[in-house]
Amino acid sequence: MSSIQKLKFPEDFINKIILGDALKLIKSIPDNSVDAVVTDPPYGLNKSGIKNDADLTVFYNILPECYRVLKDNSFFITFFSTKYLPKLFENNPFKYFWQIILYTPEGRVRSPIGFTKYMLAVVFKKGNPKISLLGKDIFIDTPGKMVEPDEGFIDHPTPKPKHFIKEILRMFTRENDIILDPFIGSGSTAVACIQLNRKFIGFEIDRSYWELARNRINKFANKFQKELFDREENPNKGNKK
Ligand SMILES: C[S@@+](CC[C@H](N)C(=O)[O-])C[C@H]1O[C@@H](n2cnc3c(N)ncnc32)[C@H](O)[C@@H]1O
Repeated sequence: MSSIQKLKFPEDFINKIILGDALKLIKSIPDNSVDAVVTDPPYGLNKSGIKNDADLTVFYNILPECYRVLKDNSFFITFFSTKYLPKLFENNPFKYFWQIILYTPEGRVRSPIGFTKYMLAVVFKKGNPKISLLGKDIFIDTPGKMVEPDEGFIDHPTPKPKHFIKEILRMFTRENDIILDPFIGSGSTAVACIQLNRKFIGFEIDRSYWELARNRINKFANKFQKELFDREENPNKGNKK
């Protein structure tokens, strides 16, 4: 993207999915200005259709930048490969906090021991952040396929279920927080943010995924606006998200 230098924070970033290289785009975000990073980076599995997935170079390059842009006392949450899990803890500026398992009953995750039935999100912290919501059961099954019940098939090689991202957001972030996903793919993090009244910043290098993500958020932003409007018109309608 040739106009990266012209992008200004926050107006050009908040609630936008920007087409471009996350390593360059993130440089325009000031220090200590993001409330959480929730992401699903290329993590070295050489997955077909995922750029920069041949190794962990991009992940390692963005890690210190994520630390820089995060506010003190906040969380960095990332999906990661089981294969390279030990590498996640090398040269990592964050402190390990916990891990979350996404159970996938259909067992689609290829491994040396056959298809396993889980994916891993690892929670790190900068400083000593507080958890927003304790005691909630976050071990929610996926619906069987990576098909969103309210959206249908998501045409991306590795979409993550947004109900799972929403549970992460509920636990580690608050309403109106700014959530950065530098590798947003089909836009699942953004849709989850819209539905839970968080602000999002998304970067995506692949034009077709960027278009997919933008179509998804436009659909949900419109729907969300309409629901808000309906609620204002009819306060008894409730505010179920
Ligand atoms: C594992 S996928 C994320 C999938 C996403 N969680 C979803 O639900 O659709 C990683 C994404 O990072 C993108 N990507 C790879 N290198 C990038 C870079 N340097 N800057 C921005 N995006 C990049 C890929 O195109 C891919 O869509």
